Amino acid sequence: MVLPPDTNYHGTVFGGRILQWIDIAGAISAQRHTHRKVVTASMDDMHFAVPIRLGDVVVLKAAVNYVHRTSMEVGVRVEREIILTGERELAATAYLTYVALDDEGKPTAIPPVEPETPEEKRRFADAITRREFRLARRDALLARRGD
Ligand SMILES: CC(C)(COP(=O)(O)OP(=O)(O)OC[C@H]1O[C@@H](n2cnc3c(N)ncnc32)[C@H](O)[C@@H]1OP(=O)(O)O)[C@@H](O)C(=O)NCCC(=O)NCCS
Repeated sequence: MVLPPDTNYHGTVFGGRILQWIDIAGAISAQRHTHRKVVTASMDDMHFAVPIRLGDVVVLKAAVNYVHRTSMEVGVRVEREIILTGERELAATAYLTYVALDDEGKPTAIPPVEPETPEEKRRFADAITRREFRLARRDALLARRGD
């Protein structure tokens, strides 16, 4: 439930707080899949659709969309629930990449995901496309800096 310390001076949730909740929900999903420690490698396609207000209940849903070798994409959907009516609406979405680490803190291979439903298959295919864009963008920016 959104409490005063979560809000900005508009009386809506501070964006950074939503990012924090998203990262926690995403990490839980990644760790449930891998049973490993994970770190957040990137966070992208973050969209805030509607403001979340003081007193709203925030519902976060996270799923591993795609696994490459040591990294995985997790999609997180944030809903605001107006508790007096039970009405829910989409408030934000984001995609995060987590990397699983071994006991020495090095990236380690993780089990694949096997999409079954049409929705899971769509998310899996979309995640592959997003991964290509994400890494290409990262590499292009690094190359321009000479890293
Ligand atoms: C994420 C991290 C472990 C990757 O280390 P690295 O030395 O680049 O490792 P590798 O080159 O072997 O890449 C490991 C995987 O991460 C992926 N990766 C690395 N950087 C990435 C990025 N910016 N976005 C998406 N994926 C990335 C690689 O594609 C690779 O995936 P794959 O094994 O599935 O093909 C390292 O950059 C790191 O520790 N970053 C800091 C993490 C952190 O502090 N997060 C905030 C707190 S949790």
